[in-house]
Amino acid sequence: MLHDRVRVRKADGCGAHVEGIDLGRLTEREADDVREALFEHGVLFFRDQSLTPEQHVAMAEAIGRIDINRFFPALRGYPQIAKVEKTPEQRSNIGGGWHTDHSYDAEPAMGSILVARETPPIGGDTLFADMYAAYEALDDDARAEIAGLRAVHGSGHVFGAAGTATRGDQTALTARPGVETPESVHPVVIRHPGSGKPALYVNPGFTLRFEGRSREESLPLLQRLFAHAIQPERVCRFAWRPGSVAFWDNRATWHFALNDYHGHYRLMHRITLAGVALEAA
Ligand code: SIN
Repeated sequence: MLHDRVRVRKADGCGAHVEGIDLGRLTEREADDVREALFEHGVLFFRDQSLTPEQHVAMAEAIGRIDINRFFPALRGYPQIAKVEKTPEQRSNIGGGWHTDHSYDAEPAMGSILVARETPPIGGDTLFADMYAAYEALDDDARAEIAGLRAVHGSGHVFGAAGTATRGDQTALTARPGVETPESVHPVVIRHPGSGKPALYVNPGFTLRFEGRSREESLPLLQRLFAHAIQPERVCRFAWRPGSVAFWDNRATWHFALNDYHGHYRLMHRITLAGVALEAA
């Protein structure tokens, strides 16, 4: 039951815009409202929030337990806050392909709270795709084909020494010695732990193959699912301004940070919230 002041307006394609909340002064009741709306809509967009790093940490802790990303550089003095940064000199960006955060973990992150600090004069939007809707839109044959399947997710090809982050110019993300680049196995169709709804849980960024099949054997079906998941009617685009916040559920959405602002600076602060092991729908 939403608090009277809180307005949630469905966005076209995916997610919802939320108004009437100051995330810097989140009450317990509002934190419950935000969690409930997140599980329902998959991603929430907030405008004109003036969150200090302390308030960013406090609002995250009001909603869940923080899961510190082992690859991203942290904001000085705030180990909980990952810097998502692209300088005018860099060509590659962070998150510049469809993915969902931490699917390589045994207990994938519940959500990510991204705060825009500095945005380019034009570009740098983020796309989101709805994985509840992607499952819902599968026909009976496709549902039968993936029923009971599990998939292996990995991080080494991105954050390992020869990974895409290093081969591009996001070398700050390369796993430091001793930091593991894990693989984990999850159901291809999960029952969302918060909403109880089925969601498609594979993603182009981190899903490597189906359990018991090679990558070559897995790719035709994976690629069909990936193409299905990003049909325009299930995708939305969020244009950032400093102070904008997007809070997405990693079990119910994918996202893609567009890299169309070369020569300009973009800085975002991200806090990731811990999740649970995922069960099949
Ligand atoms: C990310 O993939 O977490 C970053 C998204 C963005 O910078 O828009």
